Amino acid sequence: MYLKFGSTPVVVASSPEMAKQFLKTHDRIFASRPSTAAGKYTTYNYQNITWAPYGSYWIQGRKIYLNELFSSNRLGSYEYIRVQELQNFVSRLHLMSGESIVLKDHLSHMNLSIVSRIVLGRKYFSESKEEKEIVTLEEFQEMLDELFLLNGVLNVGDWIPWLRFLDLQGYVKRMKALCKRFDRFHDHVFEEHRARMKAEGEGFVVKDMVDLLLKLADDPNLKVKLDSDGVKGFTQDLIAGGTDTSARTVEWAMSELIKQPDLIKKATDELDKVIGRERWVQEIDFPNLPFIDSILKETMRLHPVAVFLAPHLALEDCKVGGYDVVKGTTVFINTWSIGRDSNIWDDPQTFRPERFLNKDIDVTGQHFELLPFGSGRRMCPGYNLGLKMMRSLIGNLLHGFNWNLPKNMKLEDMNMEETYGLSTHMKFSLLVVPEPRLATHLYK
Ligand code: HEM
Repeated sequence: MYLKFGSTPVVVASSPEMAKQFLKTHDRIFASRPSTAAGKYTTYNYQNITWAPYGSYWIQGRKIYLNELFSSNRLGSYEYIRVQELQNFVSRLHLMSGESIVLKDHLSHMNLSIVSRIVLGRKYFSESKEEKEIVTLEEFQEMLDELFLLNGVLNVGDWIPWLRFLDLQGYVKRMKALCKRFDRFHDHVFEEHRARMKAEGEGFVVKDMVDLLLKLADDPNLKVKLDSDGVKGFTQDLIAGGTDTSARTVEWAMSELIKQPDLIKKATDELDKVIGRERWVQEIDFPNLPFIDSILKETMRLHPVAVFLAPHLALEDCKVGGYDVVKGTTVFINTWSIGRDSNIWDDPQTFRPERFLNKDIDVTGQHFELLPFGSGRRMCPGYNLGLKMMRSLIGNLLHGFNWNLPKNMKLEDMNMEETYGLSTHMKFSLLVVPEPRLATHLYK
């Protein structure tokens, strides 16, 4: 579909064939991003990976992500953090057995804890009134929610440049204010990291991703200089990329499952058979849990975190599937409608994980009918970490708890409406009552 937003040509691709043309056949030509106000004001003038234009800065950054931050060795070395935070999470839920809880808040708390420890080395937010940190959990969550929202809005000034200075919707004002809040946070985190670096001198050992990025910033041999704003941009990318995305997906998965108790039965039968009742699901178990994996795929088909992949920008004129696409065109890949296309999927509106059992379709960008992480050069570099966190959450939520709706609520009262932005949220957060399924000592 060809459109014009203000003075900008826009193409929306809504079929696997067209997605493949943009993301594989002509991958390099469409590997840039448009220059949006969000990229400028919330990510240090495009000095992160998500909004950086295609070029030497992005290529170097991407290499750092893939070879250093997300190498399988490094991800493996942080497994103990994921295990500890999972244990904290199930203990917190256990204490709330029988009570109505907003599941999403607890999922976000756990994901933020994991990602903060991996990226920043520790949690820089306070979880109780007694703790004194630079932000509270609620404030930090609110900053990330605002970041997500502002990165997904349709800002008039991005499409009609001569209206830009008016900031008609007030989004740019909010972006600048948010940037100040993040700046203060990053300065605090980096100060602490630099102080440890100095104190340990020659004996300094990299413990977290910020350590690694600060070390790279001091490296005179780096091809493109990474300055302090660049380290802030990368750090923000890592924190924002890893939290809301997986919490939202797991919330959708649990909502769909609660609506169909027979699916929960199938999943717990698999868990009882493979794991037993004496331990939690571990990352090593994932290959033996095909039904849990199918639940995750089906959730990402029906509720992809991003309705559209982040926008791609044409660097040159190009013929795509017989159409002329001019340099400067913004391309949106509509994963939401691809996931619901009845030409591709049987009974597409129904949540039916079985459709993926014994099917050779994965989510790593090889199958263009299912692209929750994108594909090609701009594909999500954190997909491996995201998958680990989501599989572990879905597996353990089902293994460790029975899930009921609050007393006054029936299955048919469940509201599955979505709100739109860069990510698809449930309009009304899922309210549920957990009840333990395993022996009490396992929750301690
Ligand atoms: C449920 C989990 C996740 C989902 C569904 C997801 C989805 C996506 C999507 C759709 C894109 C855009 C791809 C494109 O433009 O074609 C993306 C990009 C990105 N994601 Fe993720 N993501 C997830 C987890 C993560 C995690 C855990 C991190 C890092 C900690 C992360 C960091 C990034 C970054 C930095 C980019 C920009 C890549 C670039 O422009 O080169 N994501 N992600």
